[in-house]
Amino acid sequence: MSFPDVRLRRLRRTQAMRDMIREVRLHPSNLMYPVFVDENACAPIPIESMPGYLRLPIQSVVDEVRHAVEQGVRAVLLFGIPSMKDEKGSAAYAADGVVQKAVQLLRKEFGDEIVVATDVCLCEYTAHGHCGVLKNGEVANDLTLEILQKIAVSHAQAGADVVAPSSMMDGQVQAIREALDDAGFSQVGIMAYSAKYASCFYAPFRDAAECAPKLGDRRVYQMDCGNAREVLREIALDINEGADIVMVKPALAYLDIISQAKARFNVPIAAYNVSGEYAMVKAAAKMGYVDEKAAALEILMAIKRAGADLIITYFAKDVKSWINP
Ligand code: PBG
Repeated sequence: MSFPDVRLRRLRRTQAMRDMIREVRLHPSNLMYPVFVDENACAPIPIESMPGYLRLPIQSVVDEVRHAVEQGVRAVLLFGIPSMKDEKGSAAYAADGVVQKAVQLLRKEFGDEIVVATDVCLCEYTAHGHCGVLKNGEVANDLTLEILQKIAVSHAQAGADVVAPSSMMDGQVQAIREALDDAGFSQVGIMAYSAKYASCFYAPFRDAAECAPKLGDRRVYQMDCGNAREVLREIALDINEGADIVMVKPALAYLDIISQAKARFNVPIAAYNVSGEYAMVKAAAKMGYVDEKAAALEILMAIKRAGADLIITYFAKDVKSWINP
C-alpha cells in the first residue's frame, strides 16, 4: 500500500494522537544531576562558562540536591574540587575529602531515596591536571590503578551507591571491582566511563573543576573521535571487567556510538550530555538563536532515542517543569 491509501499525517493530527504513539519519553528519574563540590568555597560560586550552574560549598550540597529531588531527579553524580592538589592527587582518597564528606551528608539526609554516584578520577586532584600519576613525564597506567582503587573504596566507605571511574586507564574497572569486593563493598556498583572521547566539549567542565592539564593533553588515554570499533572494544572489556553500567561521553556528537552500544550490549547504557553541550545551548539561547527549553528537550530526546537508558545532564533539574509545565 502507498499513497493515497497510506497517509502518515493521520496520526499526527492532534497532540493526544501524537502523545499516544510517541516512542520515547523523557522522565526525570532517568536523569542524573552532576554536582560540583568545592572545598574552597564559602558560598555557591557561579561557573562563567556554564550559565546557571554553581560550584557548591559542602554545606550547600544537601539543599541543592533537595531542589533536584523536588524536580523528580533521583540520582546525583559528585565531583570534587579539593583545597589541596599534589603530584599524586592524595586528597582524592582522604577519608575527610570533599567528595567523601558530601556523600556522607547526602546519605544521612536522603537515605536510599536517591542514588549517589561519584566520579573516580585524579584530574581535579593532581597539580598537573592529568587523570593519572606521572612517571617520566607520562601518565603511568598501573600506578594510577592503585590510586583509583583507594579513591573508589573511600567513596564506598562514605556511602556511595555507584562509583564512576573516568580516567580511561586500562584495567580500571577490574582493579576497582577487586578493591571494592576486598573491602566488603560488593554491593557498590560501577558505572564505567567506557567510551570517553578526547573532546573539546569538556572545556567548561575543566573551567568548573579547575582540571585542565598543565602540559600535554588527554589524547594519550581518551578515545579518538574518529573511531567507533575501538570504542566498542573498550565497552566490551569494561563489561568483562565487571562494569554494571557503561557510559558514552560526550553524547550529542556520539549518538551513533550510543545506538551501537545499545544494540550490542545488555547492560544499561548511560550517556553524558557534557558541559560544552550545555554551554552551547545556553549561549545560543542567550543570543536568541534558539529556544533553550526546546533545544535542550530535543537534544535529550535524541540521546534517549539513540538508546541511552540514563542521561547525565546539567539540565536535569529543569526537565520536570519543561515536560509538565
Ligand atoms: C574527568 C572528567 C571530565 C568530565 C567528567 N569527568 C573532564 C575531562 O576528562 O577532561 C567532563 C564532564 C563535562 O564536560 O561535563 N574527571
